[in-house]
Amino acid sequence: MSLLQVRDVTRRFGGLVAVDDVSFDVHEGQIKAIIGPNGAGKTTLFNVVTAFDRPDGGTVTFDGVDLTGSRPHRIVSSGIARTFQNTQLFDEMTARENVMAGAHAVTKAGFLATALRLPWTVREEREVAKEAGRLIRLVGLDEWEDVPAADMPHGLRRLLEIARALASRPRMLLLDEPAAGLNTAETTALGEALYRIRDEGATIVIVEHDMGLVMEVSDEIVVLDQGRKIAEGPPRLIQKDPSVIAAYLGEEDVDEL
Ligand SMILES: Nc1ncnc2c1ncn2[C@@H]1O[C@H](COP(=O)(O)OP(=O)(O)OP(=O)(O)O)[C@@H](O)[C@H]1O
Ligand SMILES: [Mg+2]
Repeated sequence: MSLLQVRDVTRRFGGLVAVDDVSFDVHEGQIKAIIGPNGAGKTTLFNVVTAFDRPDGGTVTFDGVDLTGSRPHRIVSSGIARTFQNTQLFDEMTARENVMAGAHAVTKAGFLATALRLPWTVREEREVAKEAGRLIRLVGLDEWEDVPAADMPHGLRRLLEIARALASRPRMLLLDEPAAGLNTAETTALGEALYRIRDEGATIVIVEHDMGLVMEVSDEIVVLDQGRKIAEGPPRLIQKDPSVIAAYLGEEDVDEL
């Protein structure tokens, strides 16, 4: 059975159909990419899957449970984590503290009890710090653990966001344009981090414009255009699909596809 089932999802904004009757599955352990031109509906679809937005129709089922219209915290406790198209870190906190803040969404103590340093939280806190260090190394940020997020280059901040999302121990991780603004070396590091995360057992759904990265890491690709799913399949078939090529005509990155 697939881990995530998206069925007939539609989201309208006034007269605009941002996501139009989209269905697809994500299997456990897969890296699945969602691609499409600007405005195709990728982020809107992410928002519906992670309950930041409600669909006008259709269902989202995760591990056999209908999560349509759940609240975001319920999504996190079900084992889904995400990053955003725009970086959302605590600038004044170090890399490790940012990841620890991500863990507090799911630890027993929570943020307030930890801040008050209640005795029973101290041991848990030590565990959280240790796990945060491990996740920072998993995404390749070994050198940056004690550096404030504000002092990190943009590309490394994106990797840090992924480590923070992993702190909630998700079974499925959704990444919205993680390679945006990354240089070649950082994009390579990102690809390697995605493999390591997948090898630890997480399922990954990635929205991405960097076609080199998408073609390299994805097991399967869903292509959206003007809200509709126009293709789905492995990279080698998507690259040759005439409807996909047509959708990207006029887009700058058509050469890369
Ligand atoms: N809250 C909103 N209110 C009105 N229209 C919206 C809203 N959110 C998105 N849209 C519109 O829905 C369409 C899909 O937007 P969406 O952000 O999902 O696209 P996208 O595929 O993520 O694009 P990009 O690649 O530029 O990030 C666009 O036409 C956008 O303007
Ligand atoms: Mg988007």
